[in-house]
Amino acid sequence: MSQKIFYREALTHPVFKSIAHAAAQLDYPTYVIGGFVRDLLLQRKKPVDIDVVCVGDGIKLAKEVAKLLPQKPKVQVFKTYGTAMLRHEAMELEFVGARKESYAIDSRNPHVTPGTLQDDQRRRDFTINAMALSLNETDFGAFVDPFDGMTDLKNKVIRTPLDPDITYSDDPLRMLRAIRFASQLGFSIEEASLQAIKDNAHRIKIITPERIVTELNKILESPKPSVGFKLLESTGLLVYFLPELTALKGVDEIEGERHKDNFYHSLEVVDNIARNTDDLWLRWAALLHDIGKARTKKFIKGVGWTFHAHEYVGSKMVYRLFKRLKMPLNDKMKFVQKMVSMSSRPIDIVGEVTDSAVRRLVFDAGDDIESLMTLCEADITTKNAKRYQKYHHNFKLVRDKIVEVEERDRIRNFQPPISGELIMKTFNLRPSKEIGIIKEAIKNAILDGEIPNEYEASYQYMLQKGIDLGLTPVQSD
Ligand code: CTP
Repeated sequence: MSQKIFYREALTHPVFKSIAHAAAQLDYPTYVIGGFVRDLLLQRKKPVDIDVVCVGDGIKLAKEVAKLLPQKPKVQVFKTYGTAMLRHEAMELEFVGARKESYAIDSRNPHVTPGTLQDDQRRRDFTINAMALSLNETDFGAFVDPFDGMTDLKNKVIRTPLDPDITYSDDPLRMLRAIRFASQLGFSIEEASLQAIKDNAHRIKIITPERIVTELNKILESPKPSVGFKLLESTGLLVYFLPELTALKGVDEIEGERHKDNFYHSLEVVDNIARNTDDLWLRWAALLHDIGKARTKKFIKGVGWTFHAHEYVGSKMVYRLFKRLKMPLNDKMKFVQKMVSMSSRPIDIVGEVTDSAVRRLVFDAGDDIESLMTLCEADITTKNAKRYQKYHHNFKLVRDKIVEVEERDRIRNFQPPISGELIMKTFNLRPSKEIGIIKEAIKNAILDGEIPNEYEASYQYMLQKGIDLGLTPVQSD
């Protein structure tokens, strides 16, 4: 018999005493299980989500615990799942009765019957998520690990307690969770599991877009997102929710000219950017920055492979992609669109970093100029060390010029020095297209460096432009 291991020191928070007390009153064997135990052993983050399983009625236990807590928190009951949740301090506590489950083929909603602790552990997704700590008086803190999650944790392996075919078929979301954990934790997925994911990939269709996106976001937020996306692709899952990305796979060759594989390039860009930013939406932009390339790809004799206007096409695709995946169609989406549509702009001016080109870049990017430069630098994936140095050096020049132009010309968040109202007053105009023409001309003159970004120069320019258009300024007294 191996010795029992105890983790009492992980359960010193008073809330565990309350749970243990309530469990003893109801005479329910009770355990902390899942992410709390996993992250404790990984010394990962301070867990805020605590999953509690009892051999008994989870909802009853939750209500009993709530009574014992000083704030008497509200208990939220999810009848369909037989679970209950309550918030305490910064924690979210989820209670469930131990159960055996089987799932209907067309739904994630389980058919549930009461079971033992081990029944419950067996039906969980991965061995590393099936480890439990006892909250019972007799063996408080005892580690209960019948599927040897500890060894898998040490070996960094994702494995299912049950035959993986059953685990994934029961709840296809777990296929994404397996890949997400692999990406987040740097684990590998055990061979039989990987095969089962490939075999069950089509079942992902019953999962709602919202849940898919939650996992995609976690993969994108992981230290090296390509780990997750390569697995999503190789298991056949990715095409079900991001066909725009899988369409970028492959290299064509005509007359000895090849283009790069834009799928793997995109993943490299995401890994690069992940080293420089935690901004989820900038990471999305990196992932999607080339999605317009599949549709715009053309071979032109004498020129080679072209992807004309792929940035514009890509930015339109971003909207449709967000909509389909039920992602927010808000400022975040607009930011991703903007990054995709402007993704080649800094490169385009690298040949000739003029003041006016940089002014226009800063004007169009506004406060997102820093993000755009971060994206463009991540876009450098050449394996040629000399070229790599050169490109980075060029972007350094652009960055220096941005600082210089910014200090001098205050172009970011540009406000025109001359208002439409002043133009109307000056030439005694009613609302008309001339006002727009004059305003645009002043803006262009400033961006092109013809006149400084100042009132007096802009006023004189306005007078001249109006006269050129055949207007007469009203004499002011
Ligand atoms: N679980 C499962 N199948 C799922 C989702 C969850 O078996 N599709 C089980 C796992 O035992 C998991 C626990 O429920 O550990 C809690 O799930 P959840 O809070 O979603 O995930 P965590 O494992 O806590 O991890 P994270 O917080 O990183 O999502």
